[in-house]
Amino acid sequence: MEPGNANNVLLSCLEKNVTKSASATATPPLSSPSADPRGLAQGLEEAFLAVRNETERRAAPLSPEDQQIQSMPDASPTKWHRAHTTWFWEQFLLGEHCPGYRPFHPDFAFLFNSYYVSAGPRHSRNHRGDITRPSADQVGAYRTYVDAAVVKFFREVGADKLREIAPLVEVGLNHEQQHQELMVTDILHAFAQNPIPPAYDPDWRFPASTRAGEDWLTLNEGIHTVGHVDDSFHFDNEKPAHRALVGPVRVARNLVTNAEWLAFMRDGGYRTATLWLMDGFATVNNEGWDAPGHWREIDGQWHMMTLAGLKPVDPDAPVCHVSYYEADAFARWAGKHLPTEMEWEVAARAGQLNDAFGIVWQWTRSSYSPYPGYRAIEGALGEYNGKFMINQLVLRGSSLATPEGHSRITYRNFFYPHHRWQFTGLRLADYE
Ligand SMILES: [Fe+2]
Repeated sequence: MEPGNANNVLLSCLEKNVTKSASATATPPLSSPSADPRGLAQGLEEAFLAVRNETERRAAPLSPEDQQIQSMPDASPTKWHRAHTTWFWEQFLLGEHCPGYRPFHPDFAFLFNSYYVSAGPRHSRNHRGDITRPSADQVGAYRTYVDAAVVKFFREVGADKLREIAPLVEVGLNHEQQHQELMVTDILHAFAQNPIPPAYDPDWRFPASTRAGEDWLTLNEGIHTVGHVDDSFHFDNEKPAHRALVGPVRVARNLVTNAEWLAFMRDGGYRTATLWLMDGFATVNNEGWDAPGHWREIDGQWHMMTLAGLKPVDPDAPVCHVSYYEADAFARWAGKHLPTEMEWEVAARAGQLNDAFGIVWQWTRSSYSPYPGYRAIEGALGEYNGKFMINQLVLRGSSLATPEGHSRITYRNFFYPHHRWQFTGLRLADYE
């Protein structure tokens, strides 16, 4: 993020949904000097309330008991997500820019700071589920208190200050949207541990795939610009845009399906050491993996835990909840490869990828490293992305849980290679 850059503003949550599109159009920065301050205040307020309400909408189907659980160290309780995103506004907007603001509770900064060392000491991530108080209702009161303070601040602060803080507000909105996705994946992981599999939403359906036959997009050798190029909202890890040599390569237009994954399983994919990276095969054995995450075999039929509960595996749907290790082994079994993030971006920019957005994030074989010349900003918000640029892999696209307006062709998601509780899948690449 670059909250100090007044030109780096786009209220992306007001944008039309781009999650199913392979191209995103930018709107002019709202914090430009010519922007009407009353319009800017209203735009910020509407964007803020829309995102805050979406968080609550996603939490609404969950009971206080549901909101308490932390089913593994990587996942966080729903209640914690609701409180942490609220702390973010308190810490970085109200605390730093709103004179006289009084925090809702003096201990909440310790409880709900995630990983910002610069923002002070914090509770252990592994023990977030041990905190029964504040209750879910008290967290709701915390959210209401901070929402009112932020809206009041927008309405009363002057035009110059509005323009100054608008980029920071947009960071806060996008941060909260990231947690909205995590709320869904984390509760699904918790529900998947339940022998009586609960439904988050009984009416939920897996998104329809637009795949169309076996098809490949050929990218001839060329030098392409990758990374974010304009002033519309982006995270700092998407810059600097730079030139990269891409191709010749063929990128699969379609995502790998469950039917293809079942063929890999039937062929002994999970038991064939030569298909796997050493760390990957160790993980398979240590974890006892023989299928994607959240899958259960019942009377010889594979089922998968979904947001609508346990459902038979749909052979035509894109495979989901696979780790990088599994995606890499599958590609080797198929005689293919995973694309690099550069190849993915060039192919997506050509508008030729089916289901690039809105179903599953797609693993690439690119390490999550800084783009040439990248520097994290000074201060606590410099901890947002840069310090995680080691030992993780980049995923591109977006998933069925990604909020509307939060997707971009240049977006770089990242997870460790053994992670598979997110909505993660793959498409293949080939160099022959
Ligand atoms: Fe966060």
